[in-house]
Amino acid sequence: MKNLDLLDEMYQFLPCPTPALWVEQAIENLDLLLIDHAQCEKKAASNAMNLMYRYVDRPDLLKKMSQLAREELLHFEQVVGILQDRGIKYEHISASRYALGLRQHMRKGDDALIDVLIIGAFIEARSCERFMALIPHLDEALAKYYRSLVRSEGRHYRDYLDLALQYAKSPIDDRIAFFAGIEKELIESNDDTFRFHSGPVVE
Ligand SMILES: [Fe+2]
Ligand SMILES: [Fe+2]
Repeated sequence: MKNLDLLDEMYQFLPCPTPALWVEQAIENLDLLLIDHAQCEKKAASNAMNLMYRYVDRPDLLKKMSQLAREELLHFEQVVGILQDRGIKYEHISASRYALGLRQHMRKGDDALIDVLIIGAFIEARSCERFMALIPHLDEALAKYYRSLVRSEGRHYRDYLDLALQYAKSPIDDRIAFFAGIEKELIESNDDTFRFHSGPVVE
């Protein structure tokens, strides 16, 4: 599939665009955005590895998640390099409400795998959509880097969704629609802390 088709598909998958206010706040808080971006890449690698520990009997998942974890770690190194180049101090920051807000609705048992894969697809698609929303407002070096990430995060979105479709024993459209509703709320409602996946912050 061509990159443009994948982007179109991803926009249709997501329930809403990133609010303009969030983009404004991202540009005003670029240091914090980059620190949280590093955190997200590290978290993405570690989530993929958790799935590799839990589902050892699923060879396709093991292969895809291993590839994905390596790519996310490479992104992590690259973002740490950007922090260093820009003299931004990498420090611990709290996680946003976003991933937990999605995961708290996970079912138990066999369905947990399908839900975690659907959630993975949302997180990757949203990251990709946010890179696209930020690119026109960034300096050339960062815009160029984020353009390169759009391609890989778009592929990750597809990988998670394909695995969910592959392992589900029945159609998953309703489950995707359910998580789309939760995701929309997390993206559009007022948040109290600005992060890469936060809603707009209104004090
Ligand atoms: Fe990444
Ligand atoms: Fe990713």
